[in-house]
Amino acid sequence: MLTRWLLALSLLMLAGAAPAQDHVRIASPGNVLAATISLNGEGRVHYRVDRNGQPVIGESQLGFLFTDQPQMLRNFAVVGQRTRDHDATWEQPWGEQRKVRDHYRELSVDLEEKSALKRRMTLEFRLYDDGVGFRYRMPARADGKATNIAEELTQFRVAADGRAWWAPAFESNREEYLYNATAIGAIATAQTPLTMVLAGGTHLSIHEAALVDYSGMNIARVEGTLLKAVLTPSSTGAKVSRSGEFTTPWRMLTIAPDAPALYAARNLILNLNEPNKLGEVSWVVPRKYVGIWWGMHLETQSWASGAKHGATTANALKLIDFAARNRIAGMLVEGWNLGWDGDWFANGQDFSFTQTYPDFDLPRIAAYARRKGIRLIGHHETSANIAHYEAQMGAGFDYFAKHGIDAVKTGYVSDAGGVQALGADGQIRFEWHEGQVMARHHLKVVTEAAKRRIMINAHEPIKDSGLRRTYPNMVSREGQRGMEYNAWGVPKNPPVYDTQLFFTRMLAGPMDYTPGIVSLKGRGDTDIPSTLARQLGLYVVIYSPVAMAADLQENYEASPAALGFIRDVPVDWDDTRVLSGVIGEQVVVARKDRNSADWYVGGVTDEAARDASVRLDFLPAGRRFTAHIYRDGPTAEAGAKGKDMVRETRRVGSGDTLSLRMAPGGGFAIRLEAPRRR
Ligand code: NOJ
Ligand code: CA
Repeated sequence: MLTRWLLALSLLMLAGAAPAQDHVRIASPGNVLAATISLNGEGRVHYRVDRNGQPVIGESQLGFLFTDQPQMLRNFAVVGQRTRDHDATWEQPWGEQRKVRDHYRELSVDLEEKSALKRRMTLEFRLYDDGVGFRYRMPARADGKATNIAEELTQFRVAADGRAWWAPAFESNREEYLYNATAIGAIATAQTPLTMVLAGGTHLSIHEAALVDYSGMNIARVEGTLLKAVLTPSSTGAKVSRSGEFTTPWRMLTIAPDAPALYAARNLILNLNEPNKLGEVSWVVPRKYVGIWWGMHLETQSWASGAKHGATTANALKLIDFAARNRIAGMLVEGWNLGWDGDWFANGQDFSFTQTYPDFDLPRIAAYARRKGIRLIGHHETSANIAHYEAQMGAGFDYFAKHGIDAVKTGYVSDAGGVQALGADGQIRFEWHEGQVMARHHLKVVTEAAKRRIMINAHEPIKDSGLRRTYPNMVSREGQRGMEYNAWGVPKNPPVYDTQLFFTRMLAGPMDYTPGIVSLKGRGDTDIPSTLARQLGLYVVIYSPVAMAADLQENYEASPAALGFIRDVPVDWDDTRVLSGVIGEQVVVARKDRNSADWYVGGVTDEAARDASVRLDFLPAGRRFTAHIYRDGPTAEAGAKGKDMVRETRRVGSGDTLSLRMAPGGGFAIRLEAPRRR
């Protein structure tokens, strides 16, 4: 208490125009984390972060390289500093939990060069008990020109070696890579979120929040465990070009004692984003959905016209009936529009976003869906030709809106660096999926969609930086290897992948993972490395407000028990708890339905069989719930033997513990049905 009081006093003394000093410290509200900003003899500015007095990030450099002015790196003096406290709770319109507490202390430090240029920048640090966000605030240039950033010189000197889970950056499949599990000292160039466990057990994730009009940050290792930011390039030379005053995205460090606590800290990314700018968003409606989709990935159907064309009126009407019978509210149709014939990967300029194939009667299908209470989900594959897409996007959204379609899946298939955008000179320029041009593009898409009350689910997207708080119609995205890799991937997604994904990519936000392949079969009758019970567990583990029942109708009809769970499981939650988890081994998650008193629990393991004991102490005391359990049977293991699933029902209460064996590559799903009120 005394230390907290002293700290508050010292912070008060810092406020206002304090004299220049060579270091400034700020602690989080509960005094768990502390950040120190310091200047060395050369006037270079550094920061460090400690947890409970132990270093997590040692002294790390801050600064910029520019393309048309000298670097900003040394010769700084502190010319001002301010602190601010904030504690408020806000409500998510949809999400993994309803109420989010935003509790931090903020320190702003104004720096000025002592040299002739006398340029300024401000560092803003927000300290939470479970993480730190910091960003640069850059004033407009004195000469009125744009600020052209060649590189951001931010470093992260990880204080100890340990384990790291990271997907490679700048590779041709964009974000869709398996995780490397290496020593921290063996990281090469990584995407974010990048997750680490330091010797001693501290869990650390590096990512960014509010990636707006800036290029995405990657992380490269300099030496030892010293990491640095590497911004995604752009075709114009400067990686970022901004006019006037601007702030960078928040550089975000999530810091927790263990894996469950790391996931529990996931709201940091939302808190570092601006509140909802769209106003009333009751039109953003989470849903499960089926689709004319998996058949194309199996190659039993095609996006292109012809005998195998999947998006036919007859197929769509049949699937609407199936969805309606099973209370699955959404239906996606891919391959509905002209442009898929030939090599669609390479020919984004051929897509029409307003013209259907002749065998797909969209007005009739939309009217039928409406009568059956099903919401169609439109599809805009762009093959990353955003020049072509932006020219038609408004008309495309208008067309969908006219037919009552309130959700669109977008797609940006092309190799990394293959985005085609219109340059300032009117010529096509090639860009990266994670560059500034795409940060702008994705915001243009969500704001144009919002004008028509349409929600967006982007594939081959830019990384998730928590903008769903500001634009709640940005409901989901892909941004890692999804289930499609289990159709045709080489290799398919191994079981360990999901247990890594949860503690890396999923810290950024929802993922359209497309679970529920109950046949456990990929293209050419190949086995998927999963059990059936695990496919159900994924609905609880991998959060998305739009969650696909991705398999073919006939496969669900042949698997009624599994379909029963998919029918029941919600997509919008009141609360989320990680009951247990070890990165790369297993995770068990409980979530409470937003629209009932029911809870759901999902678990997945890696290649090893594991016993999970699920303590039900999150249930309200004194009430008996009916547990509908879907677990691996005695002979189950990932692949050909994966279908052995036991479905059983038990009466349980908050004092009970369920013991469940997860098969190798297996998992489980539980619906805890609350007693119905009379
Ligand atoms: C890649 C997406 O991830 C997938 O879901 C989609 O079916 C294809 N692109 C075609 O748009
Ligand atoms: Ca994809």
